[in-house]
Amino acid sequence: MHSEIEKVLISEEEIQEKCKEMGAHLTEEYKDRFPLAVGVLKGATPFMADLLKRVEIHLEMDFMDVSSYHGGTRSSGEVKIVKDLDTKVEGRDILIIEDIIDSGLTLSYLVDLFKYRQANSIKVVTLLDKPAGRTAHIKADTIGFEIPDEFVVGYGLDYQEKYRNLPYIGILKPEVYGG
Ligand code: XMP
Ligand code: MG
Repeated sequence: MHSEIEKVLISEEEIQEKCKEMGAHLTEEYKDRFPLAVGVLKGATPFMADLLKRVEIHLEMDFMDVSSYHGGTRSSGEVKIVKDLDTKVEGRDILIIEDIIDSGLTLSYLVDLFKYRQANSIKVVTLLDKPAGRTAHIKADTIGFEIPDEFVVGYGLDYQEKYRNLPYIGILKPEVYGG
């Protein structure tokens, strides 16, 4: 599996250090509140787990699946709900947790949805931001790393459902796409 990676873009140590930093920031930001952390499946799960271990307040976790990618490396441009929340959003402080913001379509869809459902506040934390891909006019409140316009895998991010279990963020060798 590791031999299929051309380059490690962000190491395991860098990710863990960033989770600590962001966790401390969120602890401060949400103190005396009880936010609902919404993980966007499936990619955000490793980041959500590591990040929230560093947030030292009570919070609730739930998950949504709103895929706009269908196994390839490019967005289809449409967002649909595959799995909705079990938790009521009205009046809650929502913290959306994303693996990556690329076009921004997924995120702007979610933000609009939670506004419609009358959240008290909506903030977004993302591990990765790829500003070159942006088409929707939206940005995250807390960003781990800005990355160049490359398709990345690992730490939740997949190519055809593989590589999500890598502990780092990497770029695949071109022959992996070709075959
Ligand atoms: P948008 O374009 O809506 O994309 O901001 C958000 C979702 O698209 C997926 N995505 C990627 N997945 N490597 C991946 O494995 C990438 O480089 C990449 N760029 C976008 C991802 O699932 C994210 O939640
Ligand atoms: Mg995805």
